[in-house]
Amino acid sequence: MGLKADFLLTIMKLFDVYPLNDIEIVNGQGSLIWDSNGQEYLDMYGGHAVISIGHTNAHYVQRLTNQLNKIGFYSNFIKIPLQVQLAEKLGKISGREDYQLFLCNSGAEANENAFKLASFANKRKIIVSFTKAFHGRTSLAVSATDNPKIIAPVNQTPNVVFLPFGDVMALENYFAENGNRVSSVIVEGIQGVGGIQVAGDAFLQTIRKMCDAFGAYFIADSVQCGYGRTGKFYAHDYAQVNADIYTMAKGMGNGFPVAGISISPKLSPWYGMLGTTFGGNHLACAAALAVLEEMETNNLMQNALTVGNYLITELKKIPQVIEVRGRGLMIGIELPQELAHIKADLLFKEHIFTGEAKPNVIRLLPALNLSKAHADRFLTAFSKLLNN
Ligand SMILES: Cc1ncc(COP(=O)(O)O)c(C=O)c1O
Repeated sequence: MGLKADFLLTIMKLFDVYPLNDIEIVNGQGSLIWDSNGQEYLDMYGGHAVISIGHTNAHYVQRLTNQLNKIGFYSNFIKIPLQVQLAEKLGKISGREDYQLFLCNSGAEANENAFKLASFANKRKIIVSFTKAFHGRTSLAVSATDNPKIIAPVNQTPNVVFLPFGDVMALENYFAENGNRVSSVIVEGIQGVGGIQVAGDAFLQTIRKMCDAFGAYFIADSVQCGYGRTGKFYAHDYAQVNADIYTMAKGMGNGFPVAGISISPKLSPWYGMLGTTFGGNHLACAAALAVLEEMETNNLMQNALTVGNYLITELKKIPQVIEVRGRGLMIGIELPQELAHIKADLLFKEHIFTGEAKPNVIRLLPALNLSKAHADRFLTAFSKLLNN
């Protein structure tokens, strides 16, 4: 009897890993979202850099709806022409038409595949990563992430080496001693979780040089900083270097889970080398195509650069701000400790979503079609809070 009563009272709970704000978002349009009480918010966060062309973008909704009415999914043993269209468009817009596309489902999975691909090709084991890097939470991706708290004992490996981010000499010294054992070097063009830290041109150029000299592969993690967010398709493009593998996810599907790796012609596939059940399904490709079409039609990379530059210039004028970092619409605003409350004030007093990075950086990762009016709305609210 007791057992039965206990059983009836038990309901399945969510595995409680996320500290949640007491807000339920029910609608969105462009860079605006509304909660269940009808309160409007300005979305300067894009759900962690995911919303690239705006919430419920009309072209996106139409393309996904049309596709869903035809077929949503079939797996990778039949031809899926949408994948070919996506590869063609991505190659063109990213200026890498000679590269090859492998589709998967998340940023971590993209990085995981990049590491495997490099290791298959040069038969080596060492991955070079950098301090404060974030590359995801699956096995190798988390091993290459500089956060011991999220690395489980089973993920600990001597195969990942961390060097200081941005330190050209440390990189050259490491390669001089160990270069022949390095399989790949992975680096974000702008570190996101690490606090919006831009990788310098000389640093990225040295990675290219070392990889070429020692037969290692350059993996450009573009999961957060890529896909046009900085005004160039890949943030690494600012240094005018080519990576061997670009990994991408977040903005790629505007909220639909889709990810990919763009692979240099140096690397050749063989049947069975990589694989996935869901990757590259019809709906995912329709979402990714809708994003690229919208980016192209409305020149969204240029908008990200223009509105981003405007925000950066205006933010730099604010005396309380310690530093403004980033490019385009990937912006970090470093505040002093006594202003640590500003992020919560933006949300609860001014109804603006932003992101954060430890210890005290506000991260802006809005949709690439953020309007100047919405940028001004953010600037006005931010200044008002700082001056109160
Ligand atoms: C630079 C970078 N790489 C990889 C990832 C992992 O992506 P996902 O959460 O889609 O696995 C993230 C996620 O925040 C990221 O910022």
